[in-house]
Amino acid sequence: MSRDTHPYRSVLYLPASNERALAKARSLAADAVIFDLEDAVAPDQKVAARDTLSAALADGGFGARRRIVRINDADTEWYAGDVAAAATMACDAVLLPKVSTPDHLQTLADALPGVALWAMIETAEGVLRSAEIARAHPRLEGFVLGTNDLAKEIGCRPRADRLPMMTALQTALMAARMAGLVAVDGVYNAFRDEEGLRAECEQGRDLGFDGKTLIHPAQLDIANAVFSPSDEDVALAERQIAAFDEVSAAGKGVAVVDGRIVENLHVEQARATLAKARAIAALAG
Ligand code: COA
Ligand code: MG
Repeated sequence: MSRDTHPYRSVLYLPASNERALAKARSLAADAVIFDLEDAVAPDQKVAARDTLSAALADGGFGARRRIVRINDADTEWYAGDVAAAATMACDAVLLPKVSTPDHLQTLADALPGVALWAMIETAEGVLRSAEIARAHPRLEGFVLGTNDLAKEIGCRPRADRLPMMTALQTALMAARMAGLVAVDGVYNAFRDEEGLRAECEQGRDLGFDGKTLIHPAQLDIANAVFSPSDEDVALAERQIAAFDEVSAAGKGVAVVDGRIVENLHVEQARATLAKARAIAALAG
């Protein structure tokens, strides 16, 4: 469970240099938007993209969508300029790519006082040190898995079951949970393949991720649906709570629902499911 109770089912990347995409994001059903100054922006557009993005954020209109700005990493010529620009932007958090050591975040935190931070886990070192990174700074709120960069560094091939990626996904997720951070799964590159996307969203959800990073608006509905508690989930949670209340009143600590035991910890999970459903309904409303 993360400390932040905002839903992050759908986290849409968009190139900060793309004015049409910036305009469109104001009406898309994304729980969060990552305004990207890094991989999605060509080198000769990087500097101009800062101004385009600053102006779009200053104009506002993004509603309840969390506004996350992804800057270029510390080894690039754009880092200092991006940090200076991000300090003045109307955003909710700054996302640092290629975080491999706690120092990377601590340095950024010093440069951006009071700003919430997110980290991309997308290097071998970042995965292996994700537990240290997760505790690097009290303003760190979330991890985003950078599965394309990770695959490149590991040298693994894309597979529908993501078996080569599983250790990395689960290690980073475990670290995020240890520290109470949000954890968002990597992107699904074939953005016209709905069936493949749905399967990968379901896998990420079952692993425990809060949501999926997306690259195209056509991916939003599937991610939102898969990462929302279903009507059955909500109904079961309500029955578990009711059954537990009943046995508790009789002085017992274990209820049985649908042939399965329900203990206090299950009730906490059930309450979390209901809280998530309420948070999602509040977004829609
Ligand atoms: N966010 C918001 N709007 C987007 C979008 C995004 N990620 N991707 C596309 N759109 C918009 C387009 O601007 C277009 O808007 P319009 O109808 O007003 O013209 C509409 O959605 C349809 O776009 P479409 O023509 O289907 O896609 P495209 O060929 O223009 O773009 C990509 C395809 C993949 C290049 C584009 O989706 C993209 O740049 N995605 C983000 C990539 C990224 O951020 N990568 C870094 C992280 S991995
Ligand atoms: Mg990258």
